[in-house]
Amino acid sequence: MITKIFSLDKDNIDEEILNNAANIINEGNLVAFPTETVYGLGADGLNDSACRKIFKAKGRPSDNPLILHISNHDMLYNLVDSINDDAKKLIKACWPGPLTLIMKKSSVVPATVTAGLDTVAIRMPSDKIALNFIKKANTAIAAPSANTSGKPSPTRAKDVFHDLNGKVPMILDGGSCKIGIESTVVDCSEDHPVILRPGYYTYEYLKEIIPSVTLDDSLVSDEKIPKSPGQKYTHYSPDAKMEVYIGDEAARKILDKAIEYKKQDLKVGVLTFEDAIADFDDFKTISFGSRENLSYMSHVLFTALREMDNVGVDIILAEGVSDIDLGKSIMNRMKKSASNNIFYL
Ligand code: TXA
Ligand code: MG
Repeated sequence: MITKIFSLDKDNIDEEILNNAANIINEGNLVAFPTETVYGLGADGLNDSACRKIFKAKGRPSDNPLILHISNHDMLYNLVDSINDDAKKLIKACWPGPLTLIMKKSSVVPATVTAGLDTVAIRMPSDKIALNFIKKANTAIAAPSANTSGKPSPTRAKDVFHDLNGKVPMILDGGSCKIGIESTVVDCSEDHPVILRPGYYTYEYLKEIIPSVTLDDSLVSDEKIPKSPGQKYTHYSPDAKMEVYIGDEAARKILDKAIEYKKQDLKVGVLTFEDAIADFDDFKTISFGSRENLSYMSHVLFTALREMDNVGVDIILAEGVSDIDLGKSIMNRMKKSASNNIFYL
């Protein structure tokens, strides 16, 4: 299969390209597309055999359910059994945007999408290309992140091409994703809402909307098994080994380690903040920007991991942040990228 990339301008979307993309979806095939979080690998979410192609292209375990992406509320009513008051509040505050809600599914949702569960994950993205693409296809679009399973999520069309060249007929290129990490996943299928995956919408922010919202046990203690099937797998792993250092002494420790690894003839990549980056002239570096701007850090994190792999470093030494606000979502990804090689100083 030949993979073609088509560039789209968010403010002036080419209708013909969008029509072609929608046709591919309606014929039961795959299209990768941009969202405000990361790129998605889309298929018609109501077509079981189309959804199976997603699992095959990504090498995704079949027990890891997909998110259905919608462009209006009528689509939502068709996909779920009921919507409780907490879900309604979250929808009002956060949609369209980077929030995925888990609700009891209706009978139209294929078992492949939900991996056999009686719940379904749904989100209405805010990215203009994503929304218009779903509207044109006129169906809910099932889409996980458009990476090979286990790899960092793609934030640029070229990352999707790197992983899925020859496995998907079309990639819509909408430039670099604004947020850079995946949506917040909240389970609203039971009495009290539970955050299963932290994202751009933080625990602190969601608590202002629904005071009873809690974090899944696995996000509080590393010992607990996650409730979301996808959270138990290896995730976000660069090809290089990775170590993360956190605390006032982190940058100094990273410098010691970088020198030590270089002596062992390893090619070292360093991810740290702009105030420390000048100390690492002898190494491949990518800046996380200002310590005060965690949105930029989330925007650049997966791109940076992929760039480190592209230049072939053996080890990535990265500075982490405190587990609060957006820092919690960033550290949730970094811990997995580094296979829990996290050091607090
Ligand atoms: O920002 C995002 O959410 C991106 C873009 C493309 O929309 N998508 C994304 O999809 O991150 P994926 O498949 O990489 O992650 C979906 C997560 C997985 O951890 C999966 O296990 C969980 O949502 N999930 C899906 N359906 C679920 C369900 N019924 N119950 C619990 N967790 C579910
Ligand atoms: Mg993913």
